[in-house]
Amino acid sequence: MQLQTKVLAVTAIVFLGHFVTVEYMGHRQVESQVVENIRNHARTIRGMLMSLRNVYQRHFLTHNIPINEKTLGFLPAHSISRISQEFRKWVDSGLTFNNVSDHPRNPNNRADEIEMKSIRHFQNNPEEKERMVPFAGPNGEPFYHFSQPIWIKPHCLKCHGKREDAPPSIRERYDLSYDYELGDLRGVMSIKLPGKIIEEQVTAQTRQNIISHSIGFILTFLILSWLLRQTIIKRIGKLKNAALQLAQGNYAVSDSMPGEDEISHVAAAFNEMAEKIGLRERALTTQKAMYAALSQTNKTIIRLHSPEQLFEKVCRIAVELGGLKFAWTLSTAKDPDLSPFRSMSNGMWLSTTCMKAP
Ligand code: HEC
Repeated sequence: MQLQTKVLAVTAIVFLGHFVTVEYMGHRQVESQVVENIRNHARTIRGMLMSLRNVYQRHFLTHNIPINEKTLGFLPAHSISRISQEFRKWVDSGLTFNNVSDHPRNPNNRADEIEMKSIRHFQNNPEEKERMVPFAGPNGEPFYHFSQPIWIKPHCLKCHGKREDAPPSIRERYDLSYDYELGDLRGVMSIKLPGKIIEEQVTAQTRQNIISHSIGFILTFLILSWLLRQTIIKRIGKLKNAALQLAQGNYAVSDSMPGEDEISHVAAAFNEMAEKIGLRERALTTQKAMYAALSQTNKTIIRLHSPEQLFEKVCRIAVELGGLKFAWTLSTAKDPDLSPFRSMSNGMWLSTTCMKAP
């Protein structure tokens, strides 16, 4: 496998692993963010409902408004379930709410199973302010239940304390939900959120994240592979070619790689090495040729006795075996009779000259 393929494959695997981890963590984060958003949404609705309840209850008490057929509809405890039905017409989230109790005055406000669990939770943990838990709806569909405890405050006792102290209209109309004491748990504000809102938001956000992250990852991968090619693979390829040429005996190979990185340093060292090997190789070749010429010359001296022939042959050997381009035979013996020497101006005698064939 080529280096480039190896590096890119490893990078791709690392990227993929990273991508899956990032997406998984992102998905979990988006999920908790969406749940947190929904919780805040529920908190706002709860705040709105609780303020409505308090304002209208106080209004009833301050103005001594009797509870009868006409006024009952204005009592939030009574109308809150109807407001919830109305709310569904305005907000298409499937969210419902009600104030419910384990001892309801109005049977419509009786806590169901999940609401009873919540009531028991706040009875056991009175310091807690709210609770949000997932649960399955009647057909198994996912829901979230958000609830807040409704504690008895002093002004509640007017209508939920001793029956004989309650306003006559309450006393006469209701038989239940009396004898509460300050700090008792009267019920819970119950808000039910369909899980599909959360699922839809999480899916949409996760899809968006995956698309944008994929584009980012692909771009980074492409840039990285391009950089890898430009800065490493191509240059290593050049070094490889130079090494192959060197192996074939081309010592003149030199491919300068500008820069101050490791590959440039390797290339510079490689060039230096090639140059030195080339020099050594040339020296060796010259030496070998010289030895060959010398040995041939020795043999010739033994075989030939005519100086003319000898000088001629030795001169040829020097250019043909010795690797010299040009050779000549000189003698210091100042004997003009020694044919075939010719006199030279500096007192030397020149015999044969020979040149290497072009
Ligand atoms: C003016 C009288 C009045 C006051 C004050 C009042 N309530 Fe009620 N409350 C009622 C009546 C009446 C109902 C039943 C309404 C219906 O018929 O739906 C009721 C119902 C409720 C319910 C719904 C469960 C059920 O029993 O049907 C809760 C919870 C509740 N009240 C809590 C409180 C709390 C807590 C306070 C004080 C912060 C309070 N109420 C103050 C008259 C009052």
